[in-house]
Amino acid sequence: MSKKLHIKTFGCQMNAYDSERMAEALQPLGYRLTHEEEDADLVILNTCHIREKAAEKVYSELGRVRLAKNARKRAGRNTLIAVAGCVAQAEGQEIVARAPAVDIVVGPQSYHRLADLVAEAEATGRSVIATDFPAEDKFAHLPERATAKGKPSAFVTVQEGCDKFCTFCVVPYTRGAEFSRSPEEIIAEVEGLAARGAREVTLLGQNVNAYHGADASGRSSSLANLIMRLAKVPGIERIRFTTSHPRDMDDELISLFGEEPKLMPYLHLPFQAGSDRILAAMNRKHTAEDYEALIGKIRKARPDIALSTDVIVGFPGETDEDFAATLALIRRIRFAQAFSFKYSARPGTGAATFENQVPETVKRERLTLLQSLLDEQRHAFDRQTVGRKLKVLFEGKGRKPGQIAGRSPYLQAVHAEGPAELIGEIVDVDILAAGPNSLHGVINLEFAWREPVQAAV
Ligand code: 5AD
Ligand code: SF4
Repeated sequence: MSKKLHIKTFGCQMNAYDSERMAEALQPLGYRLTHEEEDADLVILNTCHIREKAAEKVYSELGRVRLAKNARKRAGRNTLIAVAGCVAQAEGQEIVARAPAVDIVVGPQSYHRLADLVAEAEATGRSVIATDFPAEDKFAHLPERATAKGKPSAFVTVQEGCDKFCTFCVVPYTRGAEFSRSPEEIIAEVEGLAARGAREVTLLGQNVNAYHGADASGRSSSLANLIMRLAKVPGIERIRFTTSHPRDMDDELISLFGEEPKLMPYLHLPFQAGSDRILAAMNRKHTAEDYEALIGKIRKARPDIALSTDVIVGFPGETDEDFAATLALIRRIRFAQAFSFKYSARPGTGAATFENQVPETVKRERLTLLQSLLDEQRHAFDRQTVGRKLKVLFEGKGRKPGQIAGRSPYLQAVHAEGPAELIGEIVDVDILAAGPNSLHGVINLEFAWREPVQAAV
């Protein structure tokens, strides 16, 4: 019998990937996805713990879901509620204590057991908790990819966890120690995605460039090596990866930006702060100069690369001079894209106990200044693509009727008038204008409709 499943996903791309795989893991139990939460027999909140008050937000969300559960109960229908993701991992048992309507708590390293957990909760009527870091490989226990059918751009987790322990970050505690999947397993997954229409894959990992997956013979493969192998998968035209750490950006990977045309010219490389004193307190193990030198090498390999980053303002002890060093580094480098955050103390992390926490008003002022500089740089990057012809992978319908939307090699959103048949195709687009959040262009239809060139035999 078909049952309905609703998954609400918070946070990063890895959570989006996990949500897809949870849906696949539940298919054998008859669960099919629905957009309507009120219709769902099982509601999963796939949570993120990176921001301030993450747990509080989950509890208030749960209050809302519980009301829906009660309303369905009055109509004679049962609803299971599951909390997954990093808040599930961090809070564990506490979730059921505070929100007894929750039936299942499942951490990011345990969701391959979801079908069993759901069956157990259904059979016993009691809450089940799975937040250990099991020794078995979650990926080996998940069913083959199925839900990504027809998606031109797909995520694939290749690495999880982190051993770096930056003092602001909860990831090493919620996602656990660094772990790399085997290259064979990843290649098989990508082949399957390509067969179902994927043209682009984004390789995901909290520390993706630390990837060192071992194959069956025990030989370890670097991220660069994995990318070279994936570039040979028929149908895959574009490869991206995120998120990288400056310390693991080796020469092999840097050169690949200049050598492998399927590796897109876009790199997300967080630097977090421009002051060496703050970088040391963050336990980043790199200086501003190291970062700049690295960017120099990357630009040498691929001069047009679009650079993206993460920046934190108001880390404990950050002075006006430290913050000025962050702005100065950004001015010297020029980013195409960036994510910026006010520092927030995460319980259990090193920096949460540091003295000299920066007042909220100061953080807010610094964030405003930072964001206006980053916005300026993003617009400048977008403007210099106006007038150029860019290859766009169309991924879906655009905002306006008759429009389709996709991404340029530099990961810019591009809208153009065009037929839905071009979704899933990589097409030349003349970029006409840069709006606040996306580019607008016209499709070179002559190119788009050209017959495939027959190979001479
Ligand atoms: N406070 C503010 N920003 C944080 N990030 C991670 N932890 C914190 C925190 N405690 C930011 C970092 C990281 C991004 C994913 O989130 O910049 O790279
Ligand atoms: Fe967190 Fe990234 Fe630092 Fe790891 S490298 S602790 S994931 S910020």
